[in-house]
Amino acid sequence: MGLSKQRSSSSYNNVPICLTIFVTVACFYLPSVAGKHVYKSKQQGSSSSSCNMYDGSWVYDESYPLYDSSSCPYIRGEFNCKKYGSPNLRYLNYRWQPSNCDLPRFDGKKFLEQMKGKQIMFVGDSLSADHCESLLCLLHASVPNSNAIQSVDDPVTTVLFQDYNVSVSVFHSLFLVDVENKTIGRVLNLDSLKNGENWKKNDVLIFNTWHWWYRSGASQPWDYIEDDKKIMKDMDRMVAFSKALRTWANWIDSDVNTQTTKVFFQGISPSHYNGTDWNEPGVTNCAKETEPISGSSYPGGLPEAAIVVKQVLSKMTKPVHLLDITTLSQLRKDGHPSSYNKYKGMDCTHWCIAGVTDTWNQLLHASLVLD
Ligand SMILES: *[C@@H]1O[C@H](CO)[C@@H](O)[C@H](O)[C@H]1NC(C)=O
Ligand SMILES: *[C@@H]1O[C@H](CO)[C@@H](O)[C@H](O)[C@H]1NC(C)=O
Ligand SMILES: *[C@@H]1O[C@H](CO)[C@@H](O)[C@H](O)[C@H]1NC(C)=O
Repeated sequence: MGLSKQRSSSSYNNVPICLTIFVTVACFYLPSVAGKHVYKSKQQGSSSSSCNMYDGSWVYDESYPLYDSSSCPYIRGEFNCKKYGSPNLRYLNYRWQPSNCDLPRFDGKKFLEQMKGKQIMFVGDSLSADHCESLLCLLHASVPNSNAIQSVDDPVTTVLFQDYNVSVSVFHSLFLVDVENKTIGRVLNLDSLKNGENWKKNDVLIFNTWHWWYRSGASQPWDYIEDDKKIMKDMDRMVAFSKALRTWANWIDSDVNTQTTKVFFQGISPSHYNGTDWNEPGVTNCAKETEPISGSSYPGGLPEAAIVVKQVLSKMTKPVHLLDITTLSQLRKDGHPSSYNKYKGMDCTHWCIAGVTDTWNQLLHASLVLD
């Protein structure tokens, strides 16, 4: 029980500092509302330190979900659990309750008005698509009659909300760093990040990479790995992940103007295939899970990758906001598609839409949208 708490207090003392820096920069960067705070003020009033929105628990709330997934046109078959027959829809009725403040309700109109003329881009693997499609559904539900055009220009899918000139896109990138075609084969180059030139033109960027780092065999999308100009057949995958993250972090620090582009890192999204993590040894998937874990800590503790992310972010010089969704999502063993998806395979990695990723977007909204 105490494991995740213990680890978090010893290794992540930097996090509230990042948050404070972020708030300062956000106020500076949106001068029209200078003087106001990014977060709704409950936490500002109660104590001088800002509220940690990521510490809390799930509560049953009949006023959720925030929209009906059957009227959202942006959900791919993998995430559309209701459409593919999920028999228990209780997972839709949970709301994230931070321990020391309230999460503002998602206000899509205000979001679009404040983001007028801006470009928002998610960059990463299918968990970025999960995050992005939830945001599109939340916005669509707020302005159902507004004109929106979807366009696909591989590897980017974009929806433009024309009445607000706001674009929301997802750039598919498994590793953030590059996989290069060379004569010997596909090389995962831990030191190369060529797509950054496209990414940095956006006003808001939300990054993620993790789930492809341990692939092997036929589903491993590279043949060699390159680190510091040395090409090898393989290496410790956690080391490779942390080196790639450092390449990304150095790129942000040297190339991205964070006065005009706000940068988020999505954090590690957890899977639920090992019941030992939630005190049900022997359970090997999420098929029978119908309830979140109560309380605010996860028996299995934090995944090592989440610790690596925090270490890398803590050494950056530019402000990056960690959307620290790991623990709150770990508590949601009931939020995955399981077999209720277009392909019928057991999926305890992605999240049903509507569902847990709506909360990720409420947290994003809380950081972007001012009172
Ligand atoms: C819409 O926003 C883009 C930037 O995202 C800008 O280049 C363009 O001029 C805007 N168009 C209008 C009609 O305001
Ligand atoms: C690498 O080659 C594959 C096919 O062999 C192709 O689909 C892919 O687009 C190429 N990637 C790049 C970056 O050129
Ligand atoms: C599940 O997690 C436990 C504790 O970390 C570990 O000992 C066990 O090997 C894991 N089981 C599987 C099937 O990976």
